[in-house]
Amino acid sequence: MTRTDLSGLQIGAATAAVQIEGGDPGNQWHAFAQRPGRIADGTTPTPATDHWRRWREDTDLMAELGLQVYRLGIEWSRIEPAPGRVDDSAIARYREELTAVRDHGIIPLVTLHHFSHPTWFDELGGWTSAGAVGRFLDHVERMVSSFGDLVAEWVTINEPNVYATQGFLFGEFPPGRSGAWRDIRRVLHTMCRAHCLAYERIHDLQAHAKVGVAHHLRVFEPRRRRNPVHRLFARTNAYLFQEAISHALLGGRFPRVLGRQPSDVCPGRFYDFLGINYYSRSAISGMRDGRFDGVPVNDLGWEIYPTGIVEVARWLHDRYPGPIWVTENGTADAADDFRSRFIVEHLRAMVTSDLPFERYYHWCLVDNWEWAEGHTARFGLVELDTTTLERRVRRSGELLAGAIESGAVTDELYRDYVAGSTYRC
Ligand code: FCB
Repeated sequence: MTRTDLSGLQIGAATAAVQIEGGDPGNQWHAFAQRPGRIADGTTPTPATDHWRRWREDTDLMAELGLQVYRLGIEWSRIEPAPGRVDDSAIARYREELTAVRDHGIIPLVTLHHFSHPTWFDELGGWTSAGAVGRFLDHVERMVSSFGDLVAEWVTINEPNVYATQGFLFGEFPPGRSGAWRDIRRVLHTMCRAHCLAYERIHDLQAHAKVGVAHHLRVFEPRRRRNPVHRLFARTNAYLFQEAISHALLGGRFPRVLGRQPSDVCPGRFYDFLGINYYSRSAISGMRDGRFDGVPVNDLGWEIYPTGIVEVARWLHDRYPGPIWVTENGTADAADDFRSRFIVEHLRAMVTSDLPFERYYHWCLVDNWEWAEGHTARFGLVELDTTTLERRVRRSGELLAGAIESGAVTDELYRDYVAGSTYRC
């Protein structure tokens, strides 16, 4: 039996502004990417996919694929290029795009911070400064007043844990710092507080809004299950990387490891959906991520572990019940050899579980600029020719479109797109 019923899910794709738009020198990634050695292939976020100019074509592509929902980022530095100065033409441009998305019957979910912000925000101390919260809340308020008639679903912040560790522990994202533990803690505290207050602020302005955070969750397992050191590190990594901040983000309860309980956040409920970005599993024997031997992997060497999507969702849902939106899930597969299998196995794990999965946003629509990986990692349902910027729907894009249309991965779809494919180890 290969058929998988998807009728309870709304399905679409997710993107982030810096990764697709191109041509915005005002965010902190622009300068970071110019520094030698920062980006794997030496590219910068311009032109990325040139979506800023080609958004009509991309919106039509989404409609062609039959997407029901679309998660996109709006670039803060375009809206507020200098502190307090608003660019009305940027607002108008995003309004045009959001209107077109809605006209196709696609529900937009807007991310307010997805790893990028104006360079002036960093010059004022970035997320390590306490003033960051007020600056972010002003931005949030402007966003809701500018787009609230077109958007009712918001992700406040994308993956605070990835932002903090990549930027302040591993040095792979701006500001490119390493081992800055005190600042990691400060950044996480500030982002969690910003999320809680933004959750309240959005609801004050738009009572019917649905607001959440896109939380990156991995499966952490001891490399050798009997080894107590591996077990201890697996627990510690899971706690420090994702569990402690779950309590702050969703329950407004700040565990000691993050610092003091903020005086302006009372424990409560700070989510309308559980946004989960899920990609992989880690085999842990120390502080760094590792991988089990002989497991299926993608082009970046990340393990493909479909049942993990249910494991991480269960951990969260047991503590914070609510509808689950998979705000990102996808894989780097330039040859499109196994993406269809990847999609089907993750969807199947979700819908055959007893958890209330409501949405699935595939990462991503068109191959994009993958941060420090540049254009070397290909996550798209649609292939990008980086020279001509032409788009071509991949077979995995056809598979997802077929599954949306049928409300199921039918036996025929399985046979045509999945049966003949295998993962590589
Ligand atoms: C997530 C990011 C997203 C993309 C995918 C591959 O951590 O949120 O922007 O880079 O990984």
